[in-house]
Amino acid sequence: MCLLPRSDQDPNLLVGLDTCDDAGVYKLTADMALIQTVDFFTPVVDDPYTYGQIAAANSLSDVYAMGGRPLTAMNIICFPVDKLELSVLAEILKGGADKIREAGAVLVGGHSVEDNEPKYGLSVTGIIHPDKVLTNAGAQPGDALILTKPLGIGIITTAIKGELASQEEIAIAVGVMAALNKDAAEAMQEVGVNSCTDVTGFGLLGHSVEMARGSGVTMTLYSSAVPVLEPARGYADMGIVPVGTRSNLKYFNKFVEFAPDVSELEQLILADAITSGGLLISVPWEKSGLLMEKLKARGVKDASVVGEVSGKGDGRIRVVKEREI
Ligand code: CO
Ligand code: CO
Ligand code: CO
Repeated sequence: MCLLPRSDQDPNLLVGLDTCDDAGVYKLTADMALIQTVDFFTPVVDDPYTYGQIAAANSLSDVYAMGGRPLTAMNIICFPVDKLELSVLAEILKGGADKIREAGAVLVGGHSVEDNEPKYGLSVTGIIHPDKVLTNAGAQPGDALILTKPLGIGIITTAIKGELASQEEIAIAVGVMAALNKDAAEAMQEVGVNSCTDVTGFGLLGHSVEMARGSGVTMTLYSSAVPVLEPARGYADMGIVPVGTRSNLKYFNKFVEFAPDVSELEQLILADAITSGGLLISVPWEKSGLLMEKLKARGVKDASVVGEVSGKGDGRIRVVKEREI
């Protein structure tokens, strides 16, 4: 999955290209490290302001997934000046700026190029204490796995592109995608957790495989405990599923064993390729209750315990219907 060349060896590079993590982390001093990340994509919804919000929330999320706090952001913009009104561009940038402000970060610049399709996102710089960096390679046997946003966003955005989704469904999906992972990140740093990543293009299944392989563990996911946006089930049943979701399921299948009662529909939802998804957090089981309390108290209402780290191993994932006690 990581096609990048290995990063140069530098003792201050705490997180580089080796782990396929969310962002790079570089130690500046004994108590401060820099987090750097960049992300941008084509519109997932028609409304430009909302698109700007979603793209910015998604870019900021990679700092939160490392446990960090975003400080500064820069816009990355591709825009077809001959095809679209400049007011559309202004709305995209306003959506992004509002999310940057909500994150408590500062917009410091950016770069734009002419292109035949709009693309937008941010390069974000954050900070963190070097001892508090969370990677996707720290999960420990006995951990609980907590997911902080519902799945099904990829399926619903496909329905939106096909002009099938109702205004209400669009509003629900947009609300989930535009929500910052800030509260979830603060709650997990308060409690102290072992590992974190955000769930995006590879789906819950793929990002779980990455975390399990990176951590040298095996995991069990409970399919009925995973939060799902209800309309996604109906659309998936009608075959409205993004290409990326199907290829995720196909690709990650070799690392995953599904119990016979986990339907193909559930398998697809677990593999759903999403934009601006929630955090997947690996936390010692005895702390999971406290973390769930703190998440709910901060309004992260969809947070759920979706699985466990079952043992040491080579990254295999078992998906069962319910937790077996
Ligand atoms: Co990420
Ligand atoms: Co990213
Ligand atoms: Co990470």
